[in-house]
Order: sequence, then C-alpha cells, then structure tokens
Amino acid sequence: MPAARSSQGLATSRARHLPEGPGELLRDRREEVYAALSEKNLVPRVLLQDSGTRVPLPDASVQLVVTSPPYPYVEMWDGLFEAALGMSPGTMSRDPSRLSEIHRHLARTWRECARLLQPGGILCVNIGDATRSVAGEFRLFPNHAHVVQTCEELGLVSLVPILWKKPTNKPNSFLGSGFAPPNAYVTLDCESILVFRKGGRRTIPPHDVLRAASQFSKVERDTWFSQVWTVRAARQDDGHATFPEEIPRRLIRMFSLLGDTVLDPFAGTGSTLRVARRLGRRPVGIECDPALVEPLRKELPERPPDLDEVLDALLSQYAAVRGP
Ligand SMILES: C[S@@+](CC[C@H](N)C(=O)[O-])C[C@H]1O[C@@H](n2cnc3c(N)ncnc32)[C@H](O)[C@@H]1O
Repeated sequence: MPAARSSQGLATSRARHLPEGPGELLRDRREEVYAALSEKNLVPRVLLQDSGTRVPLPDASVQLVVTSPPYPYVEMWDGLFEAALGMSPGTMSRDPSRLSEIHRHLARTWRECARLLQPGGILCVNIGDATRSVAGEFRLFPNHAHVVQTCEELGLVSLVPILWKKPTNKPNSFLGSGFAPPNAYVTLDCESILVFRKGGRRTIPPHDVLRAASQFSKVERDTWFSQVWTVRAARQDDGHATFPEEIPRRLIRMFSLLGDTVLDPFAGTGSTLRVARRLGRRPVGIECDPALVEPLRKELPERPPDLDEVLDALLSQYAAVRGP
C-alpha cells in the first residue's frame, strides 16, 4: 500500500536526522572511519612552558581549545599571579585593584589561542568569579567579564555561555545579615564556561565520514545544548583544581570532530588531554609546572596511537548514552 510505504519512508528519514548515537554508524563504516583517521595527526604533545609566550605550533593548527585558567582573586592562585607579575606576597589579600592587570597577563594566552585556532575553531574557557573580603570589604571579582572583554577585543565571536552549577552537600552557605535586607549576599554557585568562535562557522566538506562518526545522540544533544549544566565538581586531593571529566567530554563532543586537535593551554592534571585522546582527538597540552608535566608526558607519550584501540575506546564511550 503506497500510504504505508510512504509513512515508513518518513520514519526512516526521521531516524536518519535524529540519530540515537553514532555507535551504529561507527560499527557499520569502521573501515572508512579508520582510513580517514589514519590521515590525521593524533600524536599527543605536552609542552612545558608559559602558554602566554610563543607556542611552537603553526597558526590555525588547532580546532578546539578547552581550558580552565587559574582564577584571579581565588586565594589558591594568589602566589602564582603574585610571582608572575612581580607583586609582593600578600598583595592580593590587601589590594583589590589588581584584577585588570592579572587579566592582561592571562590575555597573552587568549591571544596565542586566537592565533592557533583555525577559522571557525572554538575556544571554551571555564572560569569562576571570585568572592572575597579584601582590605576588609567583601566583594565580587567578575573574572568571566574580563575574559569576555579580552576575547572580543581579540576579534573572537562570543557564543552563548554555559553556566556550570556545582551541586553541593554543604549546608546553606548564606552570607549576610540574618533575614533582614539589604546587606545579604547571593551565593556564588555557578562557574562560567565561555564559548567563543574564531570568525564565522567552520566549513566541512559534505559527507565527511569523521563528522558523521562524531555525531551526538538526541539525549546528549538535549542535555548538552541547554544553558545550565549540573555537574558535581571533581575531588581536589593534593590541592590541584581538576575538571570532572564530564565537562571536557561534553565540550569535545559538542565542538570538535574525530581527528581534530584539542588544546589545553592550562593543562594541569590533564583531564582535557585524557578525554581528548579517548575520543579520538589529538591532545596538545601546555603547562608551566614541571611537576605536572612529567606524569602527563608518561601518560601521553609522543607516538601515534593504535587506531583500533582508538575506535574501540570510542565505541565504549558512545555506548554510555548519558541522560540529564
Ligand atoms: C585551574 S588549573 C587547570 C586544571 C585542569 N583543567 C585540570 O583538570 O587539571 C590551571 C593550571 O594552569 C597552570 N598555569 C598557570 N599559569 C600558566 C601559564 N602561564 N602557562 C601554562 N600553565 C599555566 C597551573 O600550573 C595549573 O596547573
């Protein structure tokens, strides 16, 4: 019956446009994906340097940056900024006026990212604002606003940012004067994940098999492309701030293709790099702390990965469809 045939056809074409995930495609076209991926450079690289100085990589050689810098006026990073900017120890506890100067220091890295990104490439910056009493006065240090201003001045285009809400088991962290207005403070419980693009949309040849094999499922799309993400923070043993892997996993799947190069210019313990490798992207990290670089280089040696291992790892990532 023609009517039944045409509704079946419609169902098939809908299914094509609302994929339940790329696992099936990857299994069906594994050889094609393997061949396309073998043309890409997937050799990891970890550089020990200040990411605000010239990075030994060519212009336009990176498709995605996923990073989280040290946060200005968050106490754990005071020493790093004071040393880098020649301030005397304790300056940031006494003087609230140094925020722009610190962001000019971080701007050197954003400038380098803008150079390294290919046209249409994406920069994702996770940054928290800081709340703190400095010189006896409680206030907010709006770090996200400084990064937005810097990146726009560098010619990057702002896209809709993500608000990362960290659920907490701590009792209500209300600060202020009991139940009477006006001197209480709103709790700071979200960080920003700012998203910028270098120029217009990235162009990709039609029917690119690596793009097809990089699709997300409907559940993933509905969760990841909404503006508020509720993701528990990773534990910080040894004092280092680390990304929960769910954050780079989402960003890398949302904004890059299999075979792309993903850069983290503040690599830290390497969460972005680890996830990038697992997702069949080339991880490139920059970190200025030698104690962190050494284990990262061991974990991510500079040699091409076994592509069968890459595809198997990817299939197991795709198998774990993540809901809200
Ligand atoms: C917030 S942590 C990054 C955490 C990382 N996302 C993770 O999951 O481990 C910031 C890192 O940037 C590094 N860093 C600070 N300034 C730097 C610079 N100018 N160049 C390179 N690395 C820098 C610090 O040593 C620290 O490891």
